[in-house]
Amino acid sequence: MARLSYTPTTGVVVTGGGSGIGRACCLALAEAGRPVAAWDLDGAGAKETAELAAGHHDVASVGLEVDVADASTFSDAVARSKDALGSIGGLVHAAGVPGPMPVDFLDEDQWDAVLDVNLRAEALLVRALLDELRAAKPGSAVVGIASVEAIVGNAMLPAYCSSKAGLLGLTRSLAHRLAGEQIRVNAVCPGAIETPMLAPALANESIKDMILSKVPLARVADPMEVARVIRFLLSDDASYVTGEYVVVDGGMTTTS
Ligand SMILES: NC(=O)c1ccc[n+]([C@@H]2O[C@H](COP(=O)([O-])OP(=O)(O)OC[C@H]3O[C@@H](n4cnc5c(N)ncnc54)[C@H](O)[C@@H]3O)[C@@H](O)[C@H]2O)c1
Repeated sequence: MARLSYTPTTGVVVTGGGSGIGRACCLALAEAGRPVAAWDLDGAGAKETAELAAGHHDVASVGLEVDVADASTFSDAVARSKDALGSIGGLVHAAGVPGPMPVDFLDEDQWDAVLDVNLRAEALLVRALLDELRAAKPGSAVVGIASVEAIVGNAMLPAYCSSKAGLLGLTRSLAHRLAGEQIRVNAVCPGAIETPMLAPALANESIKDMILSKVPLARVADPMEVARVIRFLLSDDASYVTGEYVVVDGGMTTTS
């Protein structure tokens, strides 16, 4: 019997690839044979991810220090990634910052910093990668990482909630714009995922219990459980899915 094969096999840029869900995406994609470029503010983390992907799965890879809030660095990073991977047919925007600050203490610079990384960057990254995505089609696709907080409110996170809800709007707009070129754009909305971002909350037993009480599956997720959904959305198995978001939250948003 023939084995299932994964397509496309073009390279993928993963922002936030130095840690957590971004790193898991790099490893899940490499497992399917896709070359990966991990971009992260944490250059050492990005390089470590690239080495793990190449070492475990024998794919081309590169890890680059990139600040996604600074679009002036993108063309150089795209060129270096293209050199290393051969082609770029995918983007995962996983870089993100939480920026807790209830509205009473709203800080204008912090608001801008959260929106710049979580939302604005995806639009500018797609702009920077458009030539490559066009050259690599059919099969080119983008996945942005939003959050359940794109769908429900969190009193402590007005900028984060706004950035993630905005990302869903951006997803639909980009999908509409690029559909004619057969480039798909989707998002995922993770719930509670065990990464360095959630570590401070999970280290506090009462906060951890409160989180788990809201999750019907009664556990937090491994980052790979999000990465596998993203790998699917980047694959031809999702060839008729665009402008959508997939919630990966153990049922959290299905209950009140
Ligand atoms: N962990 C969760 O429970 C959870 C839930 C919902 C959504 N998310 C989202 O998933 C994404 C990944 O988060 P994670 O949980 O893996 O956290 P993480 O902290 O492990 O990883 C985030 C990565 O983004 C990088 N980053 C931050 N600012 C950057 C910048 N300006 N330029 C480049 N890289 C930058 C960090 O260096 C880090 O490596 C984020 O967008 C986050 O909002 C996480």
